[in-house]
Amino acid sequence: MRQIVLVGFLQAQNCTNLPASWRHPDSRTDSTSPDFYREIARILERGKFHLAFFDDRLAMPDRYGGDHTHTVEHGIRCVKLDPIVTLMTMGMATSRLGLGATCSTTYYEPFHVARLFATVDLMTEGRAAWNVVTSLNDGEALNMGRDGVLEHDLRYDRADEFMEVVLGHWDTWDDDALVVDKASGRFADGSKVRRLDYAGEFFRSRGPFTVPRSAQGHPVIIQAGQSGRGRQFAGRWGEVIFVTSPNIEFGKKSYAGLKEEAERFGRDPGDMLLCNLVTPVCAATRAEAEDKMAIIQQLPLEIDQLSLLAEALNFDFAAKGLDDVLTDAELASFSGIQTIRDRVLGLSGKKNPTVREFMQISHRGRPDDAIVGGPREVADRLEEMFAAPVCDGFVVAATYVPGGYADFVEHVVPELQRRGLFHQDYAGKTLRENLGLVRPAIGRWRVG
Ligand SMILES: Cc1cc2nc3c(=O)[nH]c(=O)nc-3n(C[C@H](O)[C@H](O)[C@H](O)COP(=O)(O)O)c2cc1C
Repeated sequence: MRQIVLVGFLQAQNCTNLPASWRHPDSRTDSTSPDFYREIARILERGKFHLAFFDDRLAMPDRYGGDHTHTVEHGIRCVKLDPIVTLMTMGMATSRLGLGATCSTTYYEPFHVARLFATVDLMTEGRAAWNVVTSLNDGEALNMGRDGVLEHDLRYDRADEFMEVVLGHWDTWDDDALVVDKASGRFADGSKVRRLDYAGEFFRSRGPFTVPRSAQGHPVIIQAGQSGRGRQFAGRWGEVIFVTSPNIEFGKKSYAGLKEEAERFGRDPGDMLLCNLVTPVCAATRAEAEDKMAIIQQLPLEIDQLSLLAEALNFDFAAKGLDDVLTDAELASFSGIQTIRDRVLGLSGKKNPTVREFMQISHRGRPDDAIVGGPREVADRLEEMFAAPVCDGFVVAATYVPGGYADFVEHVVPELQRRGLFHQDYAGKTLRENLGLVRPAIGRWRVG
Protein backbone atom coordinates (compact mmCIF):
# COMPACT_ATOMS: atom_id res chain seq x y z
CA MET A 1 0.00 0.00 0.00
CA ARG A 2 1.25 3.51 -0.88
CA GLN A 3 2.19 5.61 2.12
CA ILE A 4 2.62 9.35 2.48
CA VAL A 5 6.09 10.92 2.36
CA LEU A 6 6.57 13.86 4.74
CA VAL A 7 9.18 16.57 4.20
CA GLY A 8 9.72 19.56 6.51
CA PHE A 9 10.10 22.78 4.47
CA LEU A 10 12.79 24.61 6.42
CA GLN A 11 14.58 27.92 6.12
CA ALA A 12 17.98 28.67 7.66
CA GLN A 13 16.80 32.20 8.34
CA ASN A 14 14.96 34.53 10.71
CA CYS A 15 11.47 33.44 9.58
CA THR A 16 9.72 30.59 7.82
CA ASN A 17 8.57 31.06 4.21
CA LEU A 18 5.93 33.24 5.88
CA PRO A 19 8.09 36.31 6.59
CA ALA A 20 5.77 37.51 9.37
CA SER A 21 6.37 34.29 11.32
CA TRP A 22 9.15 35.80 13.43
CA ARG A 23 6.58 38.16 15.00
CA HIS A 24 4.39 35.26 16.15
CA PRO A 25 4.13 35.32 19.97
CA ASP A 26 5.33 31.70 20.23
CA SER A 27 8.22 31.89 17.74
CA ARG A 28 11.71 31.21 18.97
CA THR A 29 13.84 34.29 18.37
CA ASP A 30 17.28 32.63 18.27
CA SER A 31 17.34 31.51 14.63
CA THR A 32 21.09 32.18 14.47
CA SER A 33 21.79 29.56 17.16
CA PRO A 34 22.42 25.84 16.55
CA ASP A 35 19.91 24.85 19.20
CA PHE A 36 17.08 26.43 17.19
CA TYR A 37 17.74 23.96 14.35
CA ARG A 38 18.46 21.03 16.65
CA GLU A 39 15.05 21.44 18.26
CA ILE A 40 13.29 21.47 14.88
CA ALA A 41 15.24 18.37 13.82
CA ARG A 42 14.28 16.45 16.96
CA ILE A 43 10.61 17.35 16.55
CA LEU A 44 10.60 16.18 12.92
CA GLU A 45 12.37 12.94 13.79
CA ARG A 46 9.91 12.33 16.63
CA GLY A 47 7.17 12.70 14.00
CA LYS A 48 9.00 10.23 11.71
CA PHE A 49 9.34 12.83 8.94
CA HIS A 50 11.32 11.34 6.06
CA LEU A 51 13.24 14.49 5.33
CA ALA A 52 14.03 17.99 6.58
CA PHE A 53 14.96 20.29 3.75
CA PHE A 54 16.37 23.83 3.63
CA ASP A 55 15.53 26.16 0.80
CA ASP A 56 18.10 28.74 -0.30
CA ARG A 57 18.50 32.05 -2.02
CA LEU A 58 21.85 33.74 -2.52
CA ALA A 59 20.57 37.26 -1.86
CA MET A 60 18.44 39.25 0.52
CA PRO A 61 15.13 40.40 -1.02
CA ASP A 62 15.94 43.92 -2.31
CA ARG A 63 14.34 43.97 -5.75
CA TYR A 64 11.46 46.10 -4.42
CA GLY A 65 12.59 49.71 -4.80
CA GLY A 66 16.14 48.46 -5.37
CA ASP A 67 16.80 48.78 -1.64
CA HIS A 68 17.17 46.43 1.32
CA THR A 69 16.23 48.80 4.17
CA HIS A 70 12.59 47.65 4.32
CA THR A 71 13.73 44.04 4.20
CA VAL A 72 15.97 44.44 7.21
CA GLU A 73 13.52 46.62 9.16
CA HIS A 74 10.66 44.16 8.77
CA GLY A 75 12.74 40.98 8.90
CA ILE A 76 11.59 39.87 5.45
CA ARG A 77 13.98 36.93 5.27
CA CYS A 78 16.95 39.27 5.64
CA VAL A 79 19.02 36.59 7.42
CA LYS A 80 19.94 33.67 5.19
CA LEU A 81 22.51 31.26 6.63
CA ASP A 82 24.38 28.68 4.61
CA PRO A 83 21.91 25.78 4.46
CA ILE A 84 24.44 22.95 4.20
CA VAL A 85 26.39 23.99 7.27
CA THR A 86 23.14 24.49 9.18
CA LEU A 87 21.95 21.10 8.00
CA MET A 88 24.91 19.44 9.66
CA THR A 89 23.86 20.71 13.10
CA MET A 90 20.58 18.87 12.51
CA GLY A 91 22.38 15.79 11.28
CA MET A 92 24.37 15.62 14.50
CA ALA A 93 21.16 15.81 16.58
CA THR A 94 19.34 12.99 14.75
CA SER A 95 19.98 9.49 13.40
CA ARG A 96 17.18 8.71 10.93
CA LEU A 97 15.83 12.01 9.62
CA GLY A 98 16.82 12.68 5.99
CA LEU A 99 18.65 15.97 5.45
CA GLY A 100 18.29 18.06 2.31
CA ALA A 101 19.64 21.43 1.25
CA THR A 102 19.31 23.61 -1.81
CA CYS A 103 22.28 24.41 -4.00
CA SER A 104 22.31 26.35 -7.25
CA THR A 105 23.66 25.02 -10.54
CA THR A 106 24.13 28.58 -11.80
CA TYR A 107 26.66 29.85 -9.27
CA TYR A 108 28.83 26.92 -8.26
CA GLU A 109 31.12 24.45 -9.97
CA PRO A 110 29.75 20.91 -10.28
CA PHE A 111 32.88 19.31 -8.80
CA HIS A 112 32.45 21.44 -5.67
CA VAL A 113 28.76 20.56 -5.31
CA ALA A 114 29.42 16.86 -5.95
CA ARG A 115 32.05 16.80 -3.21
CA LEU A 116 29.96 18.84 -0.77
CA PHE A 117 26.87 16.63 -0.92
CA ALA A 118 28.82 13.37 -1.13
CA THR A 119 30.58 14.43 2.06
CA VAL A 120 27.30 15.31 3.80
CA ASP A 121 26.04 11.88 2.73
CA LEU A 122 29.00 10.16 4.39
CA MET A 123 28.86 12.31 7.53
CA THR A 124 25.14 11.56 7.98
CA GLU A 125 25.53 7.86 7.10
CA GLY A 126 23.43 8.03 3.94
CA ARG A 127 20.75 10.59 4.78
CA ALA A 128 21.61 13.44 2.39
CA ALA A 129 19.55 15.05 -0.37
CA TRP A 130 20.29 17.92 -2.76
CA ASN A 131 17.56 20.28 -3.98
CA VAL A 132 18.74 21.33 -7.42
CA VAL A 133 17.75 24.89 -8.35
CA THR A 134 18.86 27.19 -11.15
CA SER A 135 18.34 30.43 -9.12
CA LEU A 136 16.00 33.28 -9.86
CA ASN A 137 16.93 36.91 -9.60
CA ASP A 138 19.42 39.68 -10.20
CA GLY A 139 20.34 40.03 -6.52
CA GLU A 140 21.82 36.54 -6.58
CA ALA A 141 23.66 37.28 -9.83
CA LEU A 142 25.14 40.50 -8.43
CA ASN A 143 26.28 38.79 -5.23
CA MET A 144 27.96 36.08 -7.27
CA GLY A 145 29.86 38.41 -9.61
CA ARG A 146 27.48 38.42 -12.59
CA ASP A 147 25.62 41.32 -14.18
CA GLY A 148 22.18 39.74 -14.15
CA VAL A 149 20.27 36.51 -14.06
CA LEU A 150 20.75 34.11 -17.00
CA GLU A 151 17.83 33.50 -19.35
CA HIS A 152 15.34 30.95 -17.95
CA ASP A 153 15.74 27.99 -20.35
CA LEU A 154 19.48 28.50 -20.69
CA ARG A 155 19.73 28.04 -16.89
CA TYR A 156 18.20 24.58 -17.33
CA ASP A 157 20.44 23.69 -20.30
CA ARG A 158 23.44 24.44 -18.12
CA ALA A 159 21.84 22.55 -15.25
CA ASP A 160 21.47 19.40 -17.39
CA GLU A 161 25.22 19.38 -17.97
CA PHE A 162 25.85 20.20 -14.33
CA MET A 163 23.94 17.05 -13.37
CA GLU A 164 25.93 14.94 -15.81
CA VAL A 165 29.14 16.09 -14.13
CA VAL A 166 27.88 15.62 -10.56
CA LEU A 167 26.33 12.20 -11.13
CA GLY A 168 29.26 11.29 -13.33
CA HIS A 169 31.68 11.96 -10.48
CA TRP A 170 29.45 10.11 -8.01
CA ASP A 171 29.80 7.08 -10.31
CA THR A 172 33.58 7.03 -10.40
CA TRP A 173 34.19 5.08 -7.20
CA ASP A 174 32.90 1.52 -7.23
CA ASP A 175 31.13 0.43 -4.07
CA ASP A 176 33.95 -1.95 -3.20
CA ALA A 177 36.85 0.33 -4.20
CA LEU A 178 38.10 0.76 -0.62
CA VAL A 179 40.31 -2.09 0.61
CA VAL A 180 42.05 -0.49 3.65
CA ASP A 181 44.22 -3.52 4.37
CA LYS A 182 47.10 -2.56 6.64
CA ALA A 183 48.73 -5.96 6.27
CA SER A 184 49.13 -5.75 2.47
CA GLY A 185 49.47 -1.98 2.48
CA ARG A 186 46.71 -1.65 -0.07
CA PHE A 187 44.35 1.27 0.60
CA ALA A 188 42.06 1.04 -2.42
CA ASP A 189 41.74 -0.81 -5.72
CA GLY A 190 43.15 1.50 -8.39
CA SER A 191 41.07 -0.15 -11.11
CA LYS A 192 37.86 0.74 -9.26
CA VAL A 193 38.38 4.52 -9.19
CA ARG A 194 38.08 6.22 -12.58
CA ARG A 195 38.52 9.68 -14.03
CA LEU A 196 35.44 11.38 -15.42
CA ASP A 197 37.11 13.51 -18.13
CA TYR A 198 33.95 15.52 -18.82
CA ALA A 199 34.02 18.22 -21.48
CA GLY A 200 30.67 19.77 -22.36
CA GLU A 201 29.39 23.04 -23.73
CA PHE A 202 29.22 24.74 -20.32
CA PHE A 203 31.33 22.65 -17.94
CA ARG A 204 34.58 20.74 -17.87
CA SER A 205 35.79 18.54 -15.06
CA ARG A 206 38.54 15.97 -15.07
CA GLY A 207 38.54 13.99 -11.84
CA PRO A 208 39.31 11.61 -10.29
CA PHE A 209 36.71 12.49 -7.69
CA THR A 210 37.87 12.39 -4.09
CA VAL A 211 34.89 11.03 -2.13
CA PRO A 212 33.99 7.31 -1.97
CA ARG A 213 30.36 6.12 -2.31
CA SER A 214 28.04 6.38 0.67
CA ALA A 215 25.70 3.90 2.34
CA GLN A 216 22.86 4.98 0.03
CA GLY A 217 25.04 5.18 -3.11
CA HIS A 218 24.68 8.91 -3.57
CA PRO A 219 22.46 11.73 -2.26
CA VAL A 220 18.79 11.82 -3.26
CA ILE A 221 18.02 14.43 -5.95
CA ILE A 222 15.22 16.89 -5.17
CA GLN A 223 13.77 19.21 -7.82
CA ALA A 224 10.92 21.74 -8.06
CA GLY A 225 10.85 23.02 -11.63
CA GLN A 226 7.33 24.04 -12.58
CA SER A 227 7.64 25.60 -16.05
CA GLY A 228 7.61 23.37 -19.15
CA ARG A 229 11.40 23.33 -19.26
CA GLY A 230 11.60 22.93 -15.48
CA ARG A 231 9.29 19.91 -15.52
CA GLN A 232 11.38 18.31 -18.26
CA PHE A 233 14.42 18.76 -16.05
CA ALA A 234 12.55 17.35 -13.03
CA GLY A 235 11.41 14.36 -15.10
CA ARG A 236 14.96 13.59 -16.13
CA TRP A 237 16.70 14.01 -12.77
CA GLY A 238 14.33 14.42 -9.82
CA GLU A 239 13.70 11.67 -7.28
CA VAL A 240 11.70 13.83 -4.87
CA ILE A 241 9.77 16.58 -6.66
CA PHE A 242 8.19 19.56 -4.94
CA VAL A 243 4.95 20.69 -6.53
CA THR A 244 2.25 23.25 -5.83
CA SER A 245 -1.31 22.81 -7.04
CA PRO A 246 -4.11 25.36 -6.77
CA ASN A 247 -6.78 22.61 -6.83
CA ILE A 248 -7.26 18.85 -7.11
CA GLU A 249 -8.11 18.80 -10.82
CA PHE A 250 -5.00 20.76 -11.74
CA GLY A 251 -2.92 18.65 -9.36
CA LYS A 252 -4.10 15.33 -10.84
CA LYS A 253 -3.18 16.40 -14.36
CA SER A 254 0.13 17.78 -13.22
CA TYR A 255 0.93 14.57 -11.30
CA ALA A 256 0.22 12.35 -14.31
CA GLY A 257 2.16 14.72 -16.58
CA LEU A 258 5.28 14.66 -14.42
CA LYS A 259 5.25 10.87 -14.15
CA GLU A 260 4.95 10.72 -17.96
CA GLU A 261 7.88 13.10 -18.22
CA ALA A 262 9.98 10.62 -16.20
CA GLU A 263 8.87 7.76 -18.44
CA ARG A 264 9.87 9.76 -21.49
CA PHE A 265 13.41 9.74 -20.10
CA GLY A 266 13.26 5.95 -19.72
CA ARG A 267 12.81 6.12 -15.96
CA ASP A 268 10.42 4.13 -13.77
CA PRO A 269 7.84 6.73 -12.62
CA GLY A 270 7.86 4.98 -9.24
CA ASP A 271 11.40 6.31 -8.76
CA MET A 272 9.94 9.79 -8.49
CA LEU A 273 7.99 10.97 -5.42
CA LEU A 274 5.91 14.11 -5.79
CA CYS A 275 5.43 16.18 -2.64
CA ASN A 276 2.83 18.94 -2.62
CA LEU A 277 3.49 22.10 -0.62
CA VAL A 278 1.02 22.52 2.28
CA THR A 279 0.79 24.90 5.22
CA PRO A 280 -1.14 23.25 8.03
CA VAL A 281 -2.39 25.20 11.04
CA CYS A 282 -3.54 22.52 13.43
CA ALA A 283 -4.49 21.91 17.06
CA ALA A 284 -6.41 19.36 19.14
CA THR A 285 -9.72 20.73 17.87
CA ARG A 286 -10.94 22.71 14.91
CA ALA A 287 -11.97 25.63 17.16
CA GLU A 288 -8.48 25.87 18.67
CA ALA A 289 -6.90 25.73 15.22
CA GLU A 290 -9.16 28.56 14.04
CA ASP A 291 -8.07 30.65 17.05
CA LYS A 292 -4.44 29.99 16.10
CA MET A 293 -5.10 31.00 12.52
CA ALA A 294 -6.74 34.24 13.66
CA ILE A 295 -3.46 35.21 15.35
CA ILE A 296 -1.35 34.20 12.33
CA GLN A 297 -3.49 36.16 9.88
CA GLN A 298 -2.90 39.37 11.82
CA LEU A 299 0.86 39.15 11.33
CA PRO A 300 1.65 39.75 7.60
CA LEU A 301 2.24 43.26 6.25
CA GLU A 302 1.59 44.51 2.73
CA ILE A 303 5.31 45.16 2.28
CA ASP A 304 6.07 41.48 3.04
CA GLN A 305 4.07 40.51 -0.02
CA LEU A 306 5.39 43.22 -2.32
CA SER A 307 8.97 42.51 -1.39
CA LEU A 308 8.69 38.75 -1.88
CA LEU A 309 6.80 39.07 -5.16
CA ALA A 310 9.44 41.47 -6.49
CA GLU A 311 12.12 39.01 -5.44
CA ALA A 312 10.49 35.90 -6.90
CA LEU A 313 9.40 37.49 -10.18
CA ASN A 314 12.56 39.61 -10.54
CA PHE A 315 10.45 42.72 -11.14
CA ASP A 316 10.35 45.98 -9.19
CA PHE A 317 6.74 46.50 -8.10
CA ALA A 318 7.66 49.77 -6.32
CA ALA A 319 7.27 51.67 -9.60
CA LYS A 320 3.57 50.75 -9.73
CA GLY A 321 0.49 51.64 -7.70
CA LEU A 322 -1.38 48.71 -6.14
CA ASP A 323 -4.29 49.13 -8.54
CA ASP A 324 -2.21 49.75 -11.66
CA VAL A 325 -2.42 47.01 -14.27
CA LEU A 326 0.75 45.30 -15.41
CA THR A 327 1.39 45.86 -19.11
CA ASP A 328 2.17 43.10 -21.61
CA ALA A 329 5.80 44.23 -21.73
CA GLU A 330 6.10 44.20 -17.92
CA LEU A 331 4.56 40.74 -17.64
CA ALA A 332 6.90 39.45 -20.35
CA SER A 333 9.90 40.83 -18.46
CA PHE A 334 9.26 38.68 -15.33
CA SER A 335 12.26 36.37 -15.37
CA GLY A 336 11.97 34.62 -11.99
CA ILE A 337 9.33 32.01 -11.09
CA GLN A 338 7.17 32.29 -14.17
CA THR A 339 4.62 29.86 -12.76
CA ILE A 340 3.51 32.55 -10.30
CA ARG A 341 2.76 34.90 -13.21
CA ASP A 342 1.05 32.21 -15.29
CA ARG A 343 -1.16 31.08 -12.38
CA VAL A 344 -2.24 34.65 -11.59
CA LEU A 345 -3.12 35.20 -15.26
CA GLY A 346 -5.05 31.93 -15.36
CA LEU A 347 -6.91 32.29 -12.05
CA SER A 348 -7.77 35.98 -12.52
CA GLY A 349 -8.97 35.34 -16.06
CA LYS A 350 -7.30 38.64 -16.99
CA LYS A 351 -4.62 39.40 -19.53
CA ASN A 352 -3.32 42.32 -17.47
CA PRO A 353 -3.94 41.88 -13.73
CA THR A 354 -3.17 44.62 -11.20
CA VAL A 355 -0.43 44.50 -8.59
CA ARG A 356 -3.10 43.95 -5.93
CA GLU A 357 -4.44 40.94 -7.86
CA PHE A 358 -0.95 39.49 -7.94
CA MET A 359 -0.81 39.85 -4.15
CA GLN A 360 -4.27 38.39 -3.54
CA ILE A 361 -4.08 35.48 -5.97
CA SER A 362 -0.48 34.39 -5.42
CA HIS A 363 -0.78 34.64 -1.57
CA ARG A 364 2.99 35.08 -1.57
CA GLY A 365 4.02 36.12 1.94
CA ARG A 366 0.58 35.30 3.37
CA PRO A 367 -0.86 32.12 4.93
CA ASP A 368 -4.19 32.36 3.10
CA ASP A 369 -3.98 28.86 1.65
CA ALA A 370 -3.29 27.22 5.04
CA ILE A 371 -5.15 24.03 5.92
CA VAL A 372 -6.77 24.90 9.25
CA GLY A 373 -8.30 22.28 11.50
CA GLY A 374 -8.13 19.58 14.12
CA PRO A 375 -6.49 16.20 13.38
CA ARG A 376 -9.46 14.90 11.37
CA GLU A 377 -9.93 17.93 9.13
CA VAL A 378 -6.25 18.27 8.28
CA ALA A 379 -5.79 14.53 7.71
CA ASP A 380 -8.93 14.49 5.50
CA ARG A 381 -7.48 17.18 3.23
CA LEU A 382 -4.11 15.45 2.99
CA GLU A 383 -5.73 12.09 2.34
CA GLU A 384 -7.90 13.58 -0.42
CA MET A 385 -4.83 14.95 -2.24
CA PHE A 386 -2.83 11.77 -1.69
CA ALA A 387 -5.64 9.49 -2.92
CA ALA A 388 -6.51 11.62 -6.00
CA PRO A 389 -3.46 11.37 -6.60
CA VAL A 390 -2.14 14.89 -6.61
CA CYS A 391 1.02 13.75 -4.87
CA ASP A 392 2.89 10.98 -3.04
CA GLY A 393 3.48 13.14 0.01
CA PHE A 394 3.76 16.65 1.35
CA VAL A 395 6.35 19.31 1.90
CA VAL A 396 5.09 20.86 5.10
CA ALA A 397 5.61 24.60 5.68
CA ALA A 398 5.31 26.19 9.12
CA THR A 399 3.63 29.46 10.08
CA TYR A 400 5.96 29.76 13.08
CA VAL A 401 8.78 27.63 14.46
CA PRO A 402 9.16 25.31 16.12
CA GLY A 403 5.48 25.29 17.17
CA GLY A 404 4.09 24.81 13.65
CA TYR A 405 5.94 21.49 13.39
CA ALA A 406 5.28 20.46 16.98
CA ASP A 407 1.53 20.94 16.40
CA PHE A 408 1.61 18.85 13.23
CA VAL A 409 3.60 16.06 14.87
CA GLU A 410 1.36 16.01 17.94
CA HIS A 411 -2.02 16.24 16.22
CA VAL A 412 -1.83 15.16 12.57
CA VAL A 413 0.90 12.51 12.38
CA PRO A 414 -0.92 10.11 14.79
CA GLU A 415 -4.14 10.51 12.80
CA LEU A 416 -2.34 9.71 9.51
CA GLN A 417 -0.73 6.68 11.20
CA ARG A 418 -4.09 5.52 12.58
CA ARG A 419 -5.44 5.58 9.02
CA GLY A 420 -2.48 3.51 7.79
CA LEU A 421 -1.43 6.39 5.54
CA PHE A 422 1.91 7.12 7.21
CA HIS A 423 4.64 4.81 8.47
CA GLN A 424 4.86 3.99 12.19
CA ASP A 425 8.64 4.06 12.13
CA TYR A 426 11.63 4.45 9.83
CA ALA A 427 12.16 1.44 7.56
CA GLY A 428 15.93 1.71 7.64
CA LYS A 429 18.93 3.90 8.24
CA THR A 430 19.39 5.63 4.89
CA LEU A 431 17.09 8.17 3.30
CA ARG A 432 16.64 5.95 0.23
CA GLU A 433 15.54 3.01 2.40
CA ASN A 434 13.02 5.23 4.18
CA LEU A 435 11.66 6.69 0.94
CA GLY A 436 11.50 3.27 -0.72
CA LEU A 437 13.91 4.38 -3.45
CA VAL A 438 16.38 1.87 -4.84
CA ARG A 439 20.06 2.28 -4.08
CA PRO A 440 21.33 3.41 -7.49
CA ALA A 441 23.80 1.14 -9.22
CA ILE A 442 26.75 2.87 -10.87
CA GLY A 443 25.53 4.51 -14.09
CA ARG A 444 21.80 3.92 -13.39
CA TRP A 445 20.98 7.53 -14.32
CA ARG A 446 22.39 7.01 -17.81
CA VAL A 447 19.81 4.34 -18.64
CA GLY A 448 17.30 5.79 -21.10
C1 LIG B 1 8.58 23.71 -2.25
C2 LIG B 1 9.46 24.49 -3.16
C3 LIG B 1 10.73 24.87 -2.73
C4 LIG B 1 11.57 25.62 -3.53
N1 LIG B 1 12.78 25.99 -3.06
C5 LIG B 1 13.57 26.81 -3.81
C6 LIG B 1 14.80 27.28 -3.30
O1 LIG B 1 15.19 26.95 -2.19
N2 LIG B 1 15.54 28.13 -4.06
C7 LIG B 1 15.15 28.51 -5.31
O2 LIG B 1 15.86 29.26 -5.97
N3 LIG B 1 14.00 28.05 -5.84
C8 LIG B 1 13.20 27.23 -5.10
N4 LIG B 1 12.01 26.81 -5.60
C9 LIG B 1 11.65 27.24 -6.98
C10 LIG B 1 11.90 26.15 -8.00
O3 LIG B 1 13.22 25.68 -7.97
C11 LIG B 1 11.59 26.68 -9.40
O4 LIG B 1 12.50 27.66 -9.79
C12 LIG B 1 10.24 27.27 -9.46
O5 LIG B 1 9.32 26.33 -9.00
C13 LIG B 1 9.88 27.77 -10.86
O6 LIG B 1 9.98 26.77 -11.81
P1 LIG B 1 10.84 27.01 -13.11
O7 LIG B 1 12.24 27.23 -12.64
O8 LIG B 1 10.68 25.76 -13.91
O9 LIG B 1 10.28 28.23 -13.78
C14 LIG B 1 11.15 26.03 -4.83
C15 LIG B 1 9.87 25.64 -5.28
C16 LIG B 1 9.03 24.89 -4.46
C17 LIG B 1 7.67 24.51 -4.99
